[in-house]
Amino acid sequence: STPSARVVIDLDVPGPTISRHLYGHFAEHLGRCVYGGFYVGESSELPHEAGLRLDVVEALRALNIPNLRWPGGCFADEYHWKDGIGPKEQRPGMINTHWGDVEENNHFGTHEFMALCELLGAEPYVNGNVGSGTVQEMSEWVEYLTRDGDSPMVRLRRENGRDEPWTVPFWGIGNEAWGCGGNLRADAYADLATRYATFLKDHGDNKLYRIAAGAADDDLAWTEALMKVISCLGCGKEPRNIFQAVSFHYYTVPGPWAHKGSATSFDVDDYYRTMLKAQDVERVIAGHSAVMDAYDPQRKVGLVLDEWGTWWDVEAGTNPGFLYQQNALRDALVASLHFDVFHRHAERLVMANIAQTVNVLQAMLLTDETGGLVLTPTYHVFEMNKGHHDATSVPVHVVDRPAAYSVDGKDLELVSASASVKDGAGLVSLTNLDPTSALDVVLDLRGAGLASSVGRILAAPKLHAHNTFAEPAAVVPSELDVTEDPRGLRVNLPPHSFATVSLRLV
Ligand code: AHR
Repeated sequence: STPSARVVIDLDVPGPTISRHLYGHFAEHLGRCVYGGFYVGESSELPHEAGLRLDVVEALRALNIPNLRWPGGCFADEYHWKDGIGPKEQRPGMINTHWGDVEENNHFGTHEFMALCELLGAEPYVNGNVGSGTVQEMSEWVEYLTRDGDSPMVRLRRENGRDEPWTVPFWGIGNEAWGCGGNLRADAYADLATRYATFLKDHGDNKLYRIAAGAADDDLAWTEALMKVISCLGCGKEPRNIFQAVSFHYYTVPGPWAHKGSATSFDVDDYYRTMLKAQDVERVIAGHSAVMDAYDPQRKVGLVLDEWGTWWDVEAGTNPGFLYQQNALRDALVASLHFDVFHRHAERLVMANIAQTVNVLQAMLLTDETGGLVLTPTYHVFEMNKGHHDATSVPVHVVDRPAAYSVDGKDLELVSASASVKDGAGLVSLTNLDPTSALDVVLDLRGAGLASSVGRILAAPKLHAHNTFAEPAAVVPSELDVTEDPRGLRVNLPPHSFATVSLRLV
């Protein structure tokens, strides 16, 4: 018989708000994310506005992208922002040493990024250069972007055609300082970031949310070093509001870095290991949160996962430094698992940025130079989960569930779920990880009456199903039958699928 599960949802027990910023994005000067992805240049024959590709913008607007992190990544720590302003033909070039060792012409710079954010309706998250920059350079960038009135950087901005200051809420103080951002020890970075943060001023009404570059995976000692600086433990002074958040990065790489595996050619063991790695983000978030709780029990400091997603071998024939990979139904399930975890930890986890939005790693969109545009399975998960943005998370308990699958001595739960309520509506997200069996799910809805419901399903016959320029609709959402049940509702999820059920509550 078909395996089944009961998902108990307490619709009247409010948990933390799920910040829309958990659905944030990341655009690095890497491969074809910026150049050839977002930005095709002003001489392109493709429809564009000041070089920004309009079909890309339109597709992403449908996701209500809340914030966009830029310009890196590792690139951020070798980027000098003054090279990316002014007349394009006068902008100096540089070598992008991390990503393909190619020349960067700086045609996409501060003004282009801010224009992109405006078109997308996204809030900018600018990542400053600690590794090879200076405090003055970063401080002047903030002044250039956000100051009004009259000052040297304001005059420079006006010379470049922008009168009004922009609003920049989010600011990153370097990136991966333990690696490409400078190979620093945690304490050395904590001191350096404190010095930088001191000179990142709030100009006028612009209030910066300063994000310290955080740990790799579960390096809790790194988080602790930053929290010590923030809480000023043992320094004999009051806690300092130096940074408002600390970040960390967590990629779903199930195998060794040298053999990450193919995005579209894998066996069922590879699949299970991938899901185990994705599910493990919960342990990592809980670990960082516990360290932060010890220093900041009132949870004023945010935890930011500003890089996450799958990382596979690049597609055959592409530049290994460009990190271009396909995106299969498996990737979509990695995303849906992450979001369930994010929703559960929304009290501490305030922002997350998938790496990366276009043509790099676990992308939403794949593009080509002739105007081809593919929405990936991961795109559809972001779109189906939109209703969780700024909603109130509610407790979800999966009971009477199928037995967990044991992989490498660890348990992988085969059913994942989360739910939220907002403005008289509810949204339930459900993932069936079983690669061969469908799952009957009873939604045991408690604490509110139900007026109506609509279900959507993202499924395909094969786990490695993916969308291509030739076949862009191999994995797309369709309607899911939702029937009444004495406890609430009932749905049937095909093997390896993701579903949402929207509820109208009374
Ligand atoms: O997202 C690709 C790279 O991964 C980023 O530049 C870096 O921060 C991380 O190692």
